[in-house]
Amino acid sequence: MSMRKNIVAGNWKMNKNLQEGIALAKELNDALKDKPVNCDVIIGTPFIHLASVVEVVDRNRIGVAAQNCADKAAGAYTGEVSAAMVASTGAKYVILGHSERRAYYHETPEILREKVLLALANGLTPIFCIGEVLEERESGKHFEVVKSQIEASLFDLPADDFGKIILAYEPVWAIGTGKTATAAQAQEMHAFIRTTLTDKYGAAVADNTSILYGGSCNAANANELFSNPDVDGGLIGGASLSVDKFMPIIEAF
Ligand code: PGA
Repeated sequence: MSMRKNIVAGNWKMNKNLQEGIALAKELNDALKDKPVNCDVIIGTPFIHLASVVEVVDRNRIGVAAQNCADKAAGAYTGEVSAAMVASTGAKYVILGHSERRAYYHETPEILREKVLLALANGLTPIFCIGEVLEERESGKHFEVVKSQIEASLFDLPADDFGKIILAYEPVWAIGTGKTATAAQAQEMHAFIRTTLTDKYGAAVADNTSILYGGSCNAANANELFSNPDVDGGLIGGASLSVDKFMPIIEAF
């Protein structure tokens, strides 16, 4: 029997000022109060929101995630925020390797490897994103691309540490485009990822790894996506910015 968790994680990206973010977190917290749900709920906020958001949510119900952390532990790195700083806010998770970080901020697999190590060393759970761009899918390279993203940043980890990672498959062509992968495309890739993990770490680790789908996931398609055996939840961008849109995704489980 697999022990893996179902997870619905919001990724606010660079949206909401501090007051708006606190208000959204409180509203979600209220909506979840006394409402049993069948998945873990996480919200990924901008750095400056973390300490305040952690204070206004019931941490047993809502986990808080940063959207990035530095690839260095500490020191003269102006403008950076370390994994230790993120952990000191009470946040428990960090989204790493999001395609926007890879594409716009030139985060390479090697940089991401360092970030993963620092996150783990500071007790944070990485939500590690992988996914192909449209060209790669159209030329049939999507499996190869996703496999190499996983290998390059995560496969140096011992099994114990790998077991702490949450994966998020986010086809780049589906992010913020309103174009969702079909349930069959998601299942096909998630099953491939799980096989890749089985080959490297064995069936127990692979079975226990939560693999989320991301990319225009919303109330209308969440149920179909999440009903696939290898889709263990979602990483939700746009639809995590209002409780009205986010709650039905949580309730899709
Ligand atoms: P989206 O973003 O739900 O707005 O497509 C998902 C993500 O980038 O995590």
